Amino acid sequence: MERQALEAAARKILLSNQRRGVADWNGKEYNFVCPSLVGYPFQWFWDSCFHAIALIHLDPEQAKAEMRTLMSAALPDGFIPHIIFWEMGKQPEFLRHNIVGQISPYYSSTMQPPIIAYAVERIYRATGDEAFRASALPVLTAYYRWLRRVRDPDGDGLIAVIQPEEAGTDCSPKYDDVLGLEELSNLGFITALKKIYAAYAPLRGDDRRILDADIFHLEDVLVNSVYAMGLRSLARLLGTSPDAAEFSREADKTRDALLSKCWDEEAGAFFDLSGVAEAPVKVVTISSLMPLVLEDLPRPIVERLVGQWVTAPRHFWTPYPLPSVPASSPKFLPGNPRGFIWRGPTWINTNWFLSHALWRHGYPDLADTIVAKSHECIEKSGFREYYHPYTAEGLGARNFGWSTLILDM
Ligand code: GLC
Repeated sequence: MERQALEAAARKILLSNQRRGVADWNGKEYNFVCPSLVGYPFQWFWDSCFHAIALIHLDPEQAKAEMRTLMSAALPDGFIPHIIFWEMGKQPEFLRHNIVGQISPYYSSTMQPPIIAYAVERIYRATGDEAFRASALPVLTAYYRWLRRVRDPDGDGLIAVIQPEEAGTDCSPKYDDVLGLEELSNLGFITALKKIYAAYAPLRGDDRRILDADIFHLEDVLVNSVYAMGLRSLARLLGTSPDAAEFSREADKTRDALLSKCWDEEAGAFFDLSGVAEAPVKVVTISSLMPLVLEDLPRPIVERLVGQWVTAPRHFWTPYPLPSVPASSPKFLPGNPRGFIWRGPTWINTNWFLSHALWRHGYPDLADTIVAKSHECIEKSGFREYYHPYTAEGLGARNFGWSTLILDM
């Protein structure tokens, strides 16, 4: 597809998924793009950041509106929820099919991978809008401080998630054992999740107590790679402000902890750490490659990840790379797993992260191939939630917002 046609198609999706109005529960104006009108009619944290990044190429004012709406949902303690139910009328139908951790009816009490400072930085760089930067900084500093204060109880620089949806890779097989998944299906996942939610019920709203309870306490590699990336952006956005050093230091600390605690030299992959005891979860998924987003990842590790995993046809180098789970995994499900997501198909957001990362690490050909194949998926099957890694068949939600990230690849 020519660039112009691609932009027109992306614009159509983003415009039709755009939601604007005034929320009747808080009187605030909202203006954002929902992931998909069918199934995902609200604002999701990391989706929103991806939409804003795509919108930079089409309508930078709308990109700012998207981020302003997300930031307007920040709570006084700094936390920003992963779902904001701006249009409450649509909630009952949604909750019939999904479970959400909530202490308020209007938003979730769940986090998502903290990419927000990077999205804001990109908008700022594209527009030079100082007022936008200035209004974002207090929200961003409060948010990243919240993450450190609440989600890093052992102070090692790695933040922890308390349930799998917080990492954005909901049903990834890397959580199976921690969840005690008995039935390998979406229903099995929901059943396991319900048990966790029930245990959390008396503790909801106090994430530190939830982490202490050590039920699902995961220092997740994808989340922490994105965290480090966000911290770097925030430090740059802060420029000469004295706060900049605080966030640079934190980014270094997170990178160092990923290297010293999550890197497994024998396996040649990064693994999540489970529980207060930090037991490595030795399951390779797309998350194991995510530290590639760190520009200062040591060269031998970059080469190992690329040589051993990314370019190996039996692992991630499928005809339409990069699958969310390597083809070699006994749990690899390349086709439509009926809601049992992140267990094989290829997603555009992880391809966006990793194609940029491979470019920066000096692999332009690999990056270009990932971009060309992502392009082919979209051309063949439209903007879908995810794609079959062998056939490019479109799967999951239709007219899916973040697949427009192709504009930024
Ligand atoms: C699914 C994905 C999550 C995403 C959400 C909305 O739950 O796993 O990453 O944010 O859908 O698109």
